[in-house]
Amino acid sequence: MTAFPRDFLWGAATSAYQIEGSPLADGAGPSNWHLFTHIPGNTVDGATGDLACDHYRRWPEDIGIMRELGLQAYRFSLSWSRILPEGTGGVNRRGLDFYERLTDALLAAGIQPVPTLFHWDLPATLDERGGWVNRDSAGWFADYAEVVFRRLGDRVRRWTTLNEPWVIVDAGFVHGVHPPGLTDLGAAAHAAHNLLRAHGQAVRCYRAHGDGEIGIVVNLEPKDAASETAADRAATRRADAYMNRQFLDPLLLGQYPEELAEVFGPDRPEFPPDDFALIGEPIDFLGLNYYTRSVNRHDPEAAPVFASPVRQPGAEYSEMGWEVHPASLVRALVWLKERYGDRPIYITENGGAFVDPAPDADGRIVDPARREYIRRHLLAVREAMARGVDVRGYFAWSLMDNFEWACGNEKRFGIVRVDPVTLDRTVKESGWFYRDVIASQGEVLDQEENT
Ligand code: FCB
Repeated sequence: MTAFPRDFLWGAATSAYQIEGSPLADGAGPSNWHLFTHIPGNTVDGATGDLACDHYRRWPEDIGIMRELGLQAYRFSLSWSRILPEGTGGVNRRGLDFYERLTDALLAAGIQPVPTLFHWDLPATLDERGGWVNRDSAGWFADYAEVVFRRLGDRVRRWTTLNEPWVIVDAGFVHGVHPPGLTDLGAAAHAAHNLLRAHGQAVRCYRAHGDGEIGIVVNLEPKDAASETAADRAATRRADAYMNRQFLDPLLLGQYPEELAEVFGPDRPEFPPDDFALIGEPIDFLGLNYYTRSVNRHDPEAAPVFASPVRQPGAEYSEMGWEVHPASLVRALVWLKERYGDRPIYITENGGAFVDPAPDADGRIVDPARREYIRRHLLAVREAMARGVDVRGYFAWSLMDNFEWACGNEKRFGIVRVDPVTLDRTVKESGWFYRDVIASQGEVLDQEENT
């Protein structure tokens, strides 16, 4: 098969709270995640992001690793509460300086910075003001975005607004396992809508201040029905509307999917029609995070969509319990093109959590499952491209092992190992493989792992 196009962008991704550590350093305000992880019982083993990968101090070394891997781009996120400790109002110069140093050092290393404005860590003071449930949140977000655009806009050419609004809403407002820890469908519907408005307002702001590209990052999980029964098929359709179309339909088609009336029931508010023009502000590209598909059965216990995933006998699962299913990445990409039209797409996250062996006698970390995961998903990307989908780049999740939210530090997604005690970095075999993929423009993808 032909290699990837010369201008295909090869990168890796991280997010602020998952790697930085030092959450309150240099005048930063606390984020919702900082407070949440400090409440016992909220994360596995009580893990917090207090130290994480200590990237806040070790970032020069991390850029060195990116260079060794030959990365052309690095997707990271900005911590809003470092920049605006109160969420709105006064700017903390030292917080912004950190991201400026990082950006400049990336550029000096020949690596394109691709910042995400919001990857889940909200200034805690904004949570006290209702967070995303408050309609004012769209304005707070755009004001924060403007501060960042003004400082970094001359050097950053590609931005994303929000990371995975579905997870923010589902985990934070429906199931209460992420901050703000709510189980309230009414609040969830408002939060979802305000996240979309916030995105639109930031895009508008960018058009006034910058001339690069801006997009949003969504996660997709194609849904299959466990059987042909009407109940399983209806459950699958609801799950698909809730997860895969709840954000993309208003962004790109100007309205919510009708199944959401069933999902949110009487808690679903009527939103002002004008909001949809803001939400539909044209974007330059779409970021897709893809990890898995799910097979669903009707389950009366599983509110709000009443669908539960069913494990597939004989299938491979990652440590997250997610089925490894590269064919569904092809499906997701083709579906995006067919449903929403042609538009540049970046795979902004893709990767697998697997248990890693201890370093071998030569200090190598041999992680064939992760290597195969990446290899097979990149072949899927190439197949989707051959079918006409305009994929422009790929970011491996993650550059390094990191704090996996409520799952704590157990789930290792890195192509670089971070020693749990010393925090020393070691490139895993999957990382070296990815280096070879980049260097060969994808030619080595045809070589299957033979261990
Ligand atoms: C995505 C998140 C990312 C990481 C991966 C495993 O949902 O965007 O921060 O947690 O999953």
